Amino acid sequence: VSQGSPAGGVYVHYPYCRHRCSYCNFVVATPKRIRHEAYRDAVLKELELRSVGFHGPARTLYFGGGTPSLWDIACLEEVISHVHATIGLREDAEITLEANPEDVDEVRCQSWLSAGINRLSLGVQSTRDSFLAAADRRHDEGKAIRAIETVCRAGFRSFSVDVMFGLEGQGAADWSTELDRILDFDIPHLSIYGLTVEPRTVLARQVERGRVLLPNDGVQHEMFTTTRHRLQKAGYDHYEVSSYARPGHRAQHNTGYWEWRPYLGLGAGAHGFMDSCRWQNVTRVSRYITTCLEGKLPTQSEENLSSETLAFERLMVGLRRLDGGVDLGSDFKLFETQLMAQEERGWIERHGTRVQVTDEGLRWMNALLLALMP
Ligand SMILES: C[S@@+](CC[C@H](N)C(=O)[O-])C[C@H]1O[C@@H](n2cnc3c(N)ncnc32)[C@H](O)[C@@H]1O
Ligand code: SF4
Repeated sequence: VSQGSPAGGVYVHYPYCRHRCSYCNFVVATPKRIRHEAYRDAVLKELELRSVGFHGPARTLYFGGGTPSLWDIACLEEVISHVHATIGLREDAEITLEANPEDVDEVRCQSWLSAGINRLSLGVQSTRDSFLAAADRRHDEGKAIRAIETVCRAGFRSFSVDVMFGLEGQGAADWSTELDRILDFDIPHLSIYGLTVEPRTVLARQVERGRVLLPNDGVQHEMFTTTRHRLQKAGYDHYEVSSYARPGHRAQHNTGYWEWRPYLGLGAGAHGFMDSCRWQNVTRVSRYITTCLEGKLPTQSEENLSSETLAFERLMVGLRRLDGGVDLGSDFKLFETQLMAQEERGWIERHGTRVQVTDEGLRWMNALLLALMP
């Protein structure tokens, strides 16, 4: 590890999905034929180009998407071995794959393990047919449950399950039943997201036209609070607004983002961050592949973050951390007036230059973040 530079992570974006879910605005492509090898070659080329300035060995490697569980396992294995060979991976590195329930079976789990994947993040979203349909997902409740059971038995070092609340037709009682079902399994990490209506999605148009009516903010908030209480009681540590972990199972890759460690983003639409510079890759998959295979960097935009912007973003991200918040150090004075006002209101707590949200602040998180905008 080069001096003064914390060890970082590598993110690989795999953009292909079988179908685009109505709420999703991630960089996703749904072609009839997936270009497994061409995409692998492009990622390997980008890795070769970008690895030069990156201080290894990496602490984490994360395959996100899209649906990276669709990728030929031989391709995943090659990417892992090239990361080893170029920037290096720590011996204890966390290597995560996002998997959709449709792709999970015992044979695949064993192949992922042999390829070096030691953590799965399973996109269950709901364990009820009606809400899976409302969320426009392609798996059913049987598949969701079987996938969780299979992953529980497979022998991963850790795994996470993603669940969403605030789906169409879901009431507080439905959500409580969903939590019962999830808590029936021994899941080491849970990512629980309130459904957000992202611009330019099918869902956004449906909501606008009144075709879909989502639970209101009050109900969403009640679901969030119930989740927090129930999961804490069940032994989960609520360490970030959407993240719950059993002891020893916090997501190291995401924690790396929140600690502002450098990360190398590879793949269509991926972001990277190093030495105060943030960049984003081209989002069109065909263009990403062609550019890389021509030996050129697929950067679409890059930005050198000023020290003020970095300080502000550190505050925004830090307030979502519920395990001690963020120590702003000498940047504290930049936000002193706004922070004092929020402290008086009871929304944040302060110890010297360290700030953290209170339970009341957590209730009004969006308003709190808005109030801190410069
Ligand atoms: C982009 S997905 C990729 C993983 C996988 N393809 C899947 O769908 O499960 C990562 C996670 O983001 C969450 N997510 C995506 N769009 C969201 C939205 N509009 N509101 C809330 N959560 C969302 C979902 O819970 C999903 O599991
Ligand atoms: S939610 Fe997941 S499966 Fe659905 S389109 Fe987005 S990335 Fe693909």
